[in-house]
Amino acid sequence: MIFRALAILTLAGAALAVKTCQNQTVSVTIAAVNALFDTSLVPHSDIEVTGFIQRWTRHGSNLTNDGLTGYANVSGAYNISTQYCKDSSANPETVQILTHGIGFDRSYWDLSFNNFNYSYVNAAINAGFATLSFDRLGTGASQIGTDPLNEIQAYLEIQVLRALTTKLRNGTFPGVTHTFSSIVHVGHSFGSIQTYTFAARYPNETQGIVLTGFSMDGSYVGYFGSGGDFEAAGGDHPAGYLSTANAGAIQYQFLLPPFFDAAILDFLQAGAKPVTIGELLTLGASPPTNAFTGPVLVFTGSGDLPFCGGDCLLTGDASPSIPDKVRLAFTNIQPANFQAYIQPSTGHGLTAHFNATAGYQVILEWLQTHGLGSSPARIRKRWLSRI
Ligand SMILES: *[C@@H]1O[C@H](CO)[C@@H](O)[C@H](O)[C@H]1NC(C)=O
Ligand SMILES: *[C@@H]1O[C@H](CO)[C@@H](O)[C@H](O)[C@H]1NC(C)=O
Ligand SMILES: *[C@@H]1O[C@H](CO)[C@@H](O)[C@H](O)[C@H]1NC(C)=O
Ligand SMILES: *[C@@H]1O[C@H](CO)[C@@H](O)[C@H](O)[C@H]1NC(C)=O
Ligand SMILES: *[C@@H]1O[C@H](CO)[C@@H](O)[C@H](O)[C@H]1NC(C)=O
Ligand SMILES: *[C@@H]1O[C@H](CO)[C@@H](O)[C@H](O)[C@H]1NC(C)=O
Ligand SMILES: *[C@@H]1O[C@H](CO)[C@@H](O)[C@H](O)[C@H]1NC(C)=O
Ligand SMILES: *[C@@H]1O[C@H](CO)[C@@H](O)[C@H](O)[C@H]1NC(C)=O
Repeated sequence: MIFRALAILTLAGAALAVKTCQNQTVSVTIAAVNALFDTSLVPHSDIEVTGFIQRWTRHGSNLTNDGLTGYANVSGAYNISTQYCKDSSANPETVQILTHGIGFDRSYWDLSFNNFNYSYVNAAINAGFATLSFDRLGTGASQIGTDPLNEIQAYLEIQVLRALTTKLRNGTFPGVTHTFSSIVHVGHSFGSIQTYTFAARYPNETQGIVLTGFSMDGSYVGYFGSGGDFEAAGGDHPAGYLSTANAGAIQYQFLLPPFFDAAILDFLQAGAKPVTIGELLTLGASPPTNAFTGPVLVFTGSGDLPFCGGDCLLTGDASPSIPDKVRLAFTNIQPANFQAYIQPSTGHGLTAHFNATAGYQVILEWLQTHGLGSSPARIRKRWLSRI
């Protein structure tokens, strides 16, 4: 009897999960104190878009401060486009909430390129997690908003992340009856900034965070602005939504040659998403210190542009990497709960590089060794205890 059960387990261990996903639009009712900026910042032509970027990236100036006129309460019900995935036969104990960065939508975590060969979602569900990815407010199929300056900002978006988290925790997420007591938050870039800030403000509402494409060094964000070749997004987007004008800009911001497939660059360009000027002006909204004490993994590509200036190992001091300095922000954390990992041969857009899936294993195993998710060993133990 025992032998037969083990044989089945071995087979199950080798088999890939059967991915089952629910796509749905979820309404969240949220409120935040947003920054209020001077409306003369809204660019109404491509010359004004470039002018905005020139002011935003000028050394020695701080456009966030120069344009700030006060703060205001913003609230409302917003439609958020979500995707919840798991292995069809699993009841995962941990869900990962995935927050994408600028230029993408939730498909960043589940690129369909080469038959989903680069999918982080696939790797996570194979490792026994559930995932919730969502288009950030203002992006993709989520509500675009009406005011790209004073509405669609980091502050309000963090409340979206919080509302989705609460729904998964208290069993009110549509179509997901499970009440998750174990929730991990994984971000990329601007999504990592939001994840970091969420953990700082609501430390008991997350069991662990993974900050990919991230550091606390703001010195290089201007490269991202200048190299983005931004223009007005056009289409249904009001003035103040910007998008990258060409594939070269996307390569400069996100990809490290020669470690990506030329065809994935065209794929990314075809799916590129706009950013709001309110988001750009609130990128620096995260607090300098963070009282969260749970597990924190910083996971950044060696050649990351916006957070490392293209070389994460060039620190100019004794610290091993620029992302490693994030540990200084977590003032109460035990050493075993913090790691900064530099993924080799990779730029800022981690999921689009050749070696992406090897990096996913580092993240997933790190979570499991920190008690998050069902490690194969723990699943086996549970089975054996039932026999
Ligand atoms: C820029 O100004 C904002 C608003 O006053 C402030 O919060 C932020 O810390 C400033 N950034 C820098 C790099 O000084
Ligand atoms: C936001 O609303 C709260 C509660 O209603 C109020 O105390 C606070 O002053 C408001 N903040 C701003 C910036 O208007
Ligand atoms: C949000 O979604 C609901 C239901 O699909 C729809 O009726 C409503 O118009 C949407 N709201 C906005 C502002 O798009
Ligand atoms: C769900 O959304 C993803 C894009 O994020 C898409 O690839 C997939 O086809 C959608 N699935 C369904 C059943 O609509
Ligand atoms: C999928 O990725 C692996 C490496 O992770 C590679 O060996 C394989 O050729 C890729 N397959 C496709 C269809 O791209
Ligand atoms: C879940 O949380 C939301 C937001 O705090 C709250 O409105 C709702 O009543 C809660 N539902 C349950 C079943 O706890
Ligand atoms: C977090 O702590 C606050 C204040 O103690 C409490 O009201 C809230 O229920 C806690 N939330 C969770 C998810 O434990
Ligand atoms: C691929 O990524 C893994 C995990 O970080 C790393 O151990 C390995 O050295 C990488 N391979 C290459 C060729 O960069």
